[in-house]
Amino acid sequence: MNDWALITGASSGIGRELAGCFAADRFHLVLVARNEKKLEDLAEELHLKHGIMTKVLVRNLAIAGTPQDIFDSVRDLPVSILVNNAAFGVYGPFSESDLATQAAVMRVNMTALVELTHLFLQPMLSRHRGRILNVASVAAFQPGPTMNIYYASKAFVHSFSYALAMELEGTGVTVTALCPSTTRTDFFSRAKMKIPQNWFAMDARAVAEAGHRGLMRGKRVVIPGLLNRILAALARRGPVSVAAGAVRKIHAQ
Ligand SMILES: NC(=O)c1ccc[n+]([C@@H]2O[C@H](COP(=O)([O-])OP(=O)(O)OC[C@H]3O[C@@H](n4cnc5c(N)ncnc54)[C@H](OP(=O)(O)O)[C@@H]3O)[C@@H](O)[C@H]2O)c1
Repeated sequence: MNDWALITGASSGIGRELAGCFAADRFHLVLVARNEKKLEDLAEELHLKHGIMTKVLVRNLAIAGTPQDIFDSVRDLPVSILVNNAAFGVYGPFSESDLATQAAVMRVNMTALVELTHLFLQPMLSRHRGRILNVASVAAFQPGPTMNIYYASKAFVHSFSYALAMELEGTGVTVTALCPSTTRTDFFSRAKMKIPQNWFAMDARAVAEAGHRGLMRGKRVVIPGLLNRILAALARRGPVSVAAGAVRKIHAQ
């Protein structure tokens, strides 16, 4: 196979596990994040295990112009899978948060995702073949007091991805929004919050496998875990004040 998958945020957590899923399918990989050592180690590990080719791009998606730079760096590679996974959040009252950091959250979680999608979509449409996996969250389904920009960004990713999936019907290009619930990764320490004490927190590997499976089947939305699907359905159907109030309580623990 000479197909390439490009994964942002491949240096840890769900993105790292997604890289493993695509390598097992014999996709060659473009691995994007800021931590060069982690990316190089993963690239070598997956090359040795699966015999695939890899390309490491050390890039900061919070910097304007980075998506175009990434696209230009892999222009010659047939990228048939784009995984927009990189994201982060800031925990705490919005009024006390650092505005520059919140702006970076919006750039990484939304702007870079939209720009990469637009850039890589063009060659996919020309080839009538491609799959895009945008990592949203169950945070998409209700507002999140004390993490409001992050939750709003995930609502954006879910809405954008679903609408684009419908627009692209019949083109050979699919779009899938992966909406995990609590997953054991570095996300919470980076956001400076305790990992919520949910007994149903999932492993990154299980979340990645569900996302990979749903993407390959062309599903529009994937919510890993039965209980998470039930809770997401309740959040979407019940009063928004109840769902947002529950988030506020969980965050205050
Ligand atoms: N963990 C959860 O409970 C959970 C739940 C729902 C959804 N999600 C979503 O899952 C996705 C992956 O998160 P995770 O849980 O695996 O967290 P993670 O372990 O913190 O991974 C985040 C990844 O994003 C990369 N990244 C962050 N800022 C970046 C930047 N400015 N430029 C380039 N890369 C950047 C990080 O790499 P570098 O630091 O090396 O740049 C890292 O590889 C995110 O979209 C997150 O919102 C997570």
